[in-house]
Amino acid sequence: VTQALLVSTKPATMAVWREELLALDPTLDIRLFPETGPVEDIAAAVTWNHPPEDLYRYPNLRLLISMGAGVDHLFRPPGPPPGVAVVRLVDRLLTTAMSEYVMLAVLRHHRQDAGYRALQAAGVWEELPAPDTEATRIGIMGLGNLGADAARKLAALDFRVAGWSRTARALPGIETFAGEKGLLPFLARTDILVCLLPLTPATEGIINARTLAALPRGAYVINAARGGHVVEDDLLAALESGHVAGATLDVFRTEPLPEGHRFWTHPKVILTPHAASITIPRSVAPQVVDNLARLREGRPLANVVDVTVGY
Ligand code: GLV
Repeated sequence: VTQALLVSTKPATMAVWREELLALDPTLDIRLFPETGPVEDIAAAVTWNHPPEDLYRYPNLRLLISMGAGVDHLFRPPGPPPGVAVVRLVDRLLTTAMSEYVMLAVLRHHRQDAGYRALQAAGVWEELPAPDTEATRIGIMGLGNLGADAARKLAALDFRVAGWSRTARALPGIETFAGEKGLLPFLARTDILVCLLPLTPATEGIINARTLAALPRGAYVINAARGGHVVEDDLLAALESGHVAGATLDVFRTEPLPEGHRFWTHPKVILTPHAASITIPRSVAPQVVDNLARLREGRPLANVVDVTVGY
């Protein structure tokens, strides 16, 4: 029987994916969406922002591979077809890039870059109060591959780092909090909040008026996870009131961020176009090819997502 791999993302990127996958396994039968051929042929799919309902058309589909670290795009209604395994990418370059993004945002805020740029623009030679790194409390929401790496690297810079996750985790040298009970105490000790959570029904809107109010006055917010984690009006209100000093945002409820959205021109917001950590097909192709081989040979898959919780 035919065991074809469906590839679906932006057209320009699909060709690169095909090239990188075929370089590793020239026997792969690759179909670039929407040129699927007979729907019965498709045994696996590697996708990004693919219309979820389309995946119900392939009766022999057994494996869905996310083209990113996040898999929430696969869980939009109606969600992955029952019985289809879901895997995500875990990639050194993705992790490194994310930690760089977080460290950049942390250090830019911590070292008062906006203040110094304003002084330079005004031609003013003046020093701002010196920051105290060991007294600066960073709180990372989400302690998976990305959160744990960022926590470790920020701790190595001597920040006081804590992490929060839905289920309890232990990380060397990092204070950890867990679950609903741990959330407010975690926020109360956090000067710089970093969101690296998966987006699931349990984390949707987790950065909202209530949780922002639990941060100390003047806290800073960094979201490089998903736009759906943030209630945008609540964050704007907290920026307006000065309770939150500023935010660095890579992800938004609607992407591309609509023209005229308040974030575009907000003086306290630094934004990037969902570019904190971008999948490089050449870097991740080996794990995709490996999982396809595991599927063919009936071996356990790598980086499996628990479809009951969505991450
Ligand atoms: C990017 O958003 C990813 O999930 O890899």
